[in-house]
Amino acid sequence: VPVKVYPDQDAASLDVARRIASIIKEKQEKGETAVLGLATGATPIKVYKELVRLHKEEGLSFKNVVTFNLDEYYPMQPTADQSYVQFMNKQLFDHIDIPHENIHIPDGTLALEEVPAFCEGYEQKISSFGGLDIQVLGIGRTGHIGFNEPGSAPNSGTRLVTLDDLTRRDASRDFGGKENVPTKAITMGVGTIFKAKEIILMAWNEKKAEIVKKAIEGEISSDIPATYLQLSDHVEFVLDQDAASLLT
Ligand code: F6R
Repeated sequence: VPVKVYPDQDAASLDVARRIASIIKEKQEKGETAVLGLATGATPIKVYKELVRLHKEEGLSFKNVVTFNLDEYYPMQPTADQSYVQFMNKQLFDHIDIPHENIHIPDGTLALEEVPAFCEGYEQKISSFGGLDIQVLGIGRTGHIGFNEPGSAPNSGTRLVTLDDLTRRDASRDFGGKENVPTKAITMGVGTIFKAKEIILMAWNEKKAEIVKKAIEGEISSDIPATYLQLSDHVEFVLDQDAASLLT
């Protein structure tokens, strides 16, 4: 698997933002739409910060950009502080010129019986735009990508999943206690992610070193869904030195 190691997350994030910007511009020149698969969490924050800077200072336009976020907690109101809707608005969408209707994030407000049709529709919508041009990913300490926790199938699609206990513990600070973290989420599947034309998995920090090593060097297994990425010929791992520190 191609791995790029940077001295720090700032340098890495600038490079990832530049890559996204170049896809957007390439598409603009052809009068086409750029379809971005986006992640939330701490990892991509500086990428979004740089995209905002490119918009404000260098005239990068997002008028021709369509986005699909990987996941949302379930249940979750879009107005709640912990929602991924709020996260994306604060970190990116409120600061760029993307048309509101171009933004897609799984809906945490659905009734349980509405979820399957919504998930089917999410897949169809991605396909209707010609598929994801690029998907950016973080990695959870369980080895999840999106919220595809251990046990997820390689061909899984968008669906309702149960969050791993470790994932809920890692989210507990945002929710003021693990007991307040939703037990479920709607996530794109491993199969959905795999269909992206380009996949970039980012990881920073010593805390991720162990899972990064397993993801890149470990046996491919549903125990660590990120190991499935070893099977992709269009994936790149973008790491800082600390996250890469256990790689052989
Ligand atoms: C977020 C997502 C998750 C995170 C992962 C890492 O949309 O799908 O897989 O990327 O949990 O989270 P951070 O970046 O907060 O360490």
